[in-house]
Amino acid sequence: MQDAEWIIIRDWFQGYEACFSGPDGKLPPLLQGKAGHSRRVSANARDLAVDLGHSRGEVLHAQTAGLLHDVGRFPQFRDFGTFSDPRSINHGERGWTVLCEDPDFLRLSVSRRGDLLAAVRHHNCRVLPEQLSPSERHLTEIVRDSDKLDIFKVILDAIQSGDVEKNETIFLHVPAEGGPNPLIVECIRNGRTASYEHIRNRTDFGLQLLSWAFDLAFDATCRRLIDRGLFDAIIAHLPDDPTVRESVDIARTHLHRRVAAAGAAGQA
Ligand SMILES: [Fe+2]
Repeated sequence: MQDAEWIIIRDWFQGYEACFSGPDGKLPPLLQGKAGHSRRVSANARDLAVDLGHSRGEVLHAQTAGLLHDVGRFPQFRDFGTFSDPRSINHGERGWTVLCEDPDFLRLSVSRRGDLLAAVRHHNCRVLPEQLSPSERHLTEIVRDSDKLDIFKVILDAIQSGDVEKNETIFLHVPAEGGPNPLIVECIRNGRTASYEHIRNRTDFGLQLLSWAFDLAFDATCRRLIDRGLFDAIIAHLPDDPTVRESVDIARTHLHRRVAAAGAAGQA
């Protein structure tokens, strides 16, 4: 991808999000949040592609995929008033449809359009489909890691803001109080990512987030999660409960061991 192509797609995205503005010309606050998230995921994807030693063209491609990954969130929120996929639609699939049908986007010349479409469509899958090509899989993994990294930040900002409406939407309308779901604890004990379906309260929500330690594709993302203090900040907001502590220790140890192993391999 060339710089000029990135700029044209970036401008398309700006026009696309403007279509969801209210009569005052502004996006609803929750969609403003998604617009900011899209741009930060784009920056995370760019930085990760640089870490991975990719060429300038590939870095631009990663940055584009990050920017576009949540285009489905805009119609999801307009039509259903929620970001909960189980309560509405699969926003990855919806994003793919947007990019396949938007006449302005279709007119653009886009390098490796298939890889971009796959990354948008599958970025939110719990398990990636086996039939993805290596380049589709790689770009999707860059977007998934970059997305997860920013979701940690979004969740922390929501907790720290104390904004009830923002929290309701971001925490998928689950109650604030409650102990951990044993199914999520079991996933963490087995070194697996927990499913959104098992989230019943905000403790589960936090533990599910920590279980992403087992799902990150790249060591560089694990390092950023630690370096930015995001993992520990989420832990600090979990209740002081023996089962929660056990799960936290397992996930945290896994993340730190992975970064240490990558560092040792880099020095070898
Ligand atoms: Fe998403």
